[in-house]
Amino acid sequence: MGTVTQGGSRQGRTPLIAGNWKMNLDYQQAIALVQKLDWALKDAKHDASSVEVAVFPPFTDLRSVQTLISADKIEFSLGAQDLSVHDSGAYTGEISGQFLKKLDCGYVLIGHSERRQYHDEGDDVVAAKVKAAIKHGLVPVICVGETAEDLETHGASAVPVAQLKTALTDVAAGTEVVVAYEPVWAIGSGQAATPEQAQQVCEKLRAVVAEALGADAAAATRILYGGSVAAGNIAGFMREPDVDGALVGGASLKVDDFAAIIRYQKHVGV
Ligand code: PGA
Repeated sequence: MGTVTQGGSRQGRTPLIAGNWKMNLDYQQAIALVQKLDWALKDAKHDASSVEVAVFPPFTDLRSVQTLISADKIEFSLGAQDLSVHDSGAYTGEISGQFLKKLDCGYVLIGHSERRQYHDEGDDVVAAKVKAAIKHGLVPVICVGETAEDLETHGASAVPVAQLKTALTDVAAGTEVVVAYEPVWAIGSGQAATPEQAQQVCEKLRAVVAEALGADAAAATRILYGGSVAAGNIAGFMREPDVDGALVGGASLKVDDFAAIIRYQKHVGV
């Protein structure tokens, strides 16, 4: 599908490099990391308009990171790692999408494999969370991916395709979503998929978006690859026409590594 142009955008899609911090960094460490990352990018004269950077801190860091981003005019987008299916009420420990919106969150991760695995979140919960995000004006980053066992039994694309179809049920045509293809076997393992494997699945996921939300939405939707993304392999992924960015876990906690991933255009070689 898309073609990579000089500015790094493909068919008008701005690449998105997203850092999923998971349950790492308290609010003081979060402030230090965001400041250092901003300085590293500014030192390198990074063109902030060529790639969108988003960080997904733990809930307890969001207010501090929001304040820093707005006070220092740092061009990072902010996202949360989860949200409640409910708007408000007697749901101890849950976080409403409306609270996230109030903190200037633009994005929220939904259906990360760690939520699916450790919190038993099935496709029905994921679909309800996608609706809650959209209702509160947040762009859902819908995470899908196959386990090693799925890969062996069904091949790479069957499970993520089915997961995405369910997640997009009854979502209105033209709605903005981001999709993250994260093979579970590649997350935190140091064993990333190959760019060709990622492309094959991302192309199929774009077809699912086209069916559910229309051709224009599919052409505009960012589809990310995630799973052991590192400074040394990002360029290969970004050469693929249907891979529009990355969801980065471990490497997003290291300033130099994450800055190098964000600056992939310097070493993409296209
Ligand atoms: P990883 O995690 O980059 O550490 O593999 C990715 C993710 O879980 O989003």
